[in-house]
Amino acid sequence: MAAPGKGLEGVVAAETALSDIEGKKGILSYVGYDIHDLAPNAVFEEVIYLLHHLELPTPRQLDEIKDQIAREREPNEFAAQLMPYLAEKCAPMSMLRTAVSASSATDPDGWDTSEEANYRKAIRLCAVLPTMVAQYDRLRRGERIVPPDPTLSQAANFLYMLKGDKADDESARIFDTCLVLHADHTMNASTFAARVCAATLSDIHSAITAAIAALKGPLHGGANEQVMRMIKEIEEPSRARDYIVNRLNKKEKVMGFGHRVYKGEDPRATHLRRMAKELAEKTGDGRNYEISQEIEKAMMDEKEIYPNVDFYAASVYGYLRIPTDLFTPVFACSRISGWTAHVREQYADNRLIRPDHAYVGPAPRDWVPLSQR
Ligand code: SDX
Repeated sequence: MAAPGKGLEGVVAAETALSDIEGKKGILSYVGYDIHDLAPNAVFEEVIYLLHHLELPTPRQLDEIKDQIAREREPNEFAAQLMPYLAEKCAPMSMLRTAVSASSATDPDGWDTSEEANYRKAIRLCAVLPTMVAQYDRLRRGERIVPPDPTLSQAANFLYMLKGDKADDESARIFDTCLVLHADHTMNASTFAARVCAATLSDIHSAITAAIAALKGPLHGGANEQVMRMIKEIEEPSRARDYIVNRLNKKEKVMGFGHRVYKGEDPRATHLRRMAKELAEKTGDGRNYEISQEIEKAMMDEKEIYPNVDFYAASVYGYLRIPTDLFTPVFACSRISGWTAHVREQYADNRLIRPDHAYVGPAPRDWVPLSQR
């Protein structure tokens, strides 16, 4: 049992109108819209609009934001120049963190921090992250870069730039739903990191760089990649239970399970489980899904801990043939919508975020000169 307050549990760090969670009931909403309504109905661009304008777009507003995103998909000069080097030297999340940080240097709005410039920068960042991830992957594999297709949605365009072929409609729709599901999640660690940075009145690129850095860790966004590594290690559904029991006996965490806020089903996992099943049936390759099911059963029997968003996302991305080490960058390609909206919300009603502490070091003591130590 963690000490009360450890990890800021239960502390309200900011007011937000962007998303809400009722952990006991397993309810998640974006600006008042239940995730169970958004997942089957909304496209990702509608969610970007919703998070930034606090209303769903009209058909015209949706077309406008889609056009704006499509126009902003090319990385700017400095980031584009860096990419071959990053592809050769960096792990994917380090690439993304560096590329976003570098983007600030040649952003068309420069160091303008007005509300209007910050909105343009926010949409630009939403537009460009998938291009960075796809270009990185193609360059490291020695393949030609596929330019963005302005006629495609964010979801379909990412799969196209990554693979060089247009995705079938069902795959594009499923990936679009993944982007919708990952878009925002109240005061998670990366969003909090972004808000802490923004609250010093640092610039939006710096805040997003901080968020990417925080998402990278395996206790947060990095878990989805670890889930796929675990599934691969288990190999056979029949080996899942022993693997989990063994891990728990060694007091090791099982990635993709548990949550600070949800103590029952994470509502996003409900959709991701369903989509993993659909893709298992469609591809005729049920193994990852079956192993996942066995892991879930074992975790329920042994610890009564539920899967979180990262657990079935791993199987879905695996079925979509997204390379495992790109799972966390793909999470970022969605969460950039929430991060940028939170940063703008922070600027709009800012106060420096500076928590207090509980000192546990030695009591006051006398200084000892170096010669007497
Ligand atoms: C995300 O916050 C968000 O909203 C994040 C996120 C988002 O959308 O932004 O939802 C995305 O980050 C999902 C979480 C991804 N991380 C993992 O899947 C890593 C594995 N999970 C954990 O380590 C853990 O559950 C956390 C980090 C997610 C939450 O940690 P807490 O709230 O600090 O809980 P804890 O580690 O103190 O655990 C409480 C108890 C402990 O048992 P006891 O000591 O009380 O007996 O639950 C156990 C833990 O041992 N436990 C687990 C476990 N998760 C919790 N035991 C085994 N495996 C696990 N995964």
